[in-house]
Amino acid sequence: MRDTVHKEHTYAGYSFSVPTLGSAGIALTPAPYTVTQLHFQSQIIADLHSVWDIRQFRHARHPIKVGETPDQHVFNRPVIRILDMPIKLAGSNDYRLPRELIPFLRTIQMIIDHEHSVLTGDQLLAYNAYLTIDQSDVKAGVIQRKPGAHVDGFQGARIYPKTIINHSYIVSNGAPTIFYPQPFDCSHVDERVHDCFLEMDAQSDESRAMQVEPNTVYLMDAYTVHRAAIATHHFFRTFLRISYDVKPFDRLGNAINPLFSYAWEMVPREAQSTLIQYKALENNEKELIIAADIEAIEYYLTELKKLDSVHYYNFCYIGLLSENIDVVKLILKNLLMDENPAIQLLRLLFVAATQKNTQAAHFGKLALIDYFPRVKQHSKRNVFLDFVLEIITQKPLLLSREIARTLIDGDEHTPQGREILKLIKFRPVNSSGFWKTQRTDGAIDDVKPRQLMSKL
Ligand SMILES: [Fe+2]
Repeated sequence: MRDTVHKEHTYAGYSFSVPTLGSAGIALTPAPYTVTQLHFQSQIIADLHSVWDIRQFRHARHPIKVGETPDQHVFNRPVIRILDMPIKLAGSNDYRLPRELIPFLRTIQMIIDHEHSVLTGDQLLAYNAYLTIDQSDVKAGVIQRKPGAHVDGFQGARIYPKTIINHSYIVSNGAPTIFYPQPFDCSHVDERVHDCFLEMDAQSDESRAMQVEPNTVYLMDAYTVHRAAIATHHFFRTFLRISYDVKPFDRLGNAINPLFSYAWEMVPREAQSTLIQYKALENNEKELIIAADIEAIEYYLTELKKLDSVHYYNFCYIGLLSENIDVVKLILKNLLMDENPAIQLLRLLFVAATQKNTQAAHFGKLALIDYFPRVKQHSKRNVFLDFVLEIITQKPLLLSREIARTLIDGDEHTPQGREILKLIKFRPVNSSGFWKTQRTDGAIDDVKPRQLMSKL
């Protein structure tokens, strides 16, 4: 650890160091691995190399036990910390390991051998393989890595179209990962608005939870729900993971492997989520929306907002999906009254803007545009740009080029800004600078967003 050079990065008010590795290293060659019959009955093996489908959470899955790590002693002492460093790049099945990682060689070799026994060489060409080694002192009662039930490789709204799923091998020398081999129902969760991890947390059943063994390698996939365990005693913990993923992991802070020549633009991504927790509406609340009693809904919204903002968002979400245009307009009007607009609110406006009912979608789009500049003022730049990129990725035709340009004004040279410019390249420039939306009666409406409040 002492002779490794570290590069310090600071973003989002958070400092971290990325080790700069030397150019010496070794190549690894996969060797045959005996895969037991049991593996082939596994849901993970059945779904390996398939395209992401959120409905797959319905199938309970156990992590696959690959075997005991041959490097146990190395896990108990400080060697190095690296995050998601590629050891294999898509398009090739060559593995290259910088010298600094050699203490973990036998564990890594075991994982590679297993991987090349469950997927063919051709299939494996699609994947990058990323190595993470997290080492730190962990005190009793503390979690080393992120808390809460989750999966590695969740494909949210930003990933469109969906890609082949991630699968990862993990091993730690203590406080091993806790898994939830139970079905999860995410069908009611809207990935544009709701935080699916919070929903998994809510559905996870502690009576069915299973903690795996320490010093043992397990294989899990992008639907295997798990969480980090709380340490029962103070110890030095090492967590090792190799993730197979078709996407480039280009987050700033990830280690660069000098044995490969690749020039990914590393993007500072915020860990902060702008998604909200899913809350089911009560029957009387659903009835209120269906009955479309505007006065009653207005009164209820005012009260709910004071009492419970998460429930208020969920009520607004269902209201915005209403087929009754008066309900949609009322909800929009309420949302636009917010003094401190946040991205959570933009997400709801995006739901309205993409509503099936064209009239509702029209008002949703206007509200979205009216809100954008105000939210931009109040949000962290990266969080805002990530959101703009997310909606343009999903609906490249939603914003005119002029509006999209205004949104990234001053950020054209950031990685997200460049990506957005690429996506809107073929959009027509809208000379008015506002929306021109063709209504169902054929008329062209170009309401200026500032006039929107009076229209609602
Ligand atoms: Fe995880």
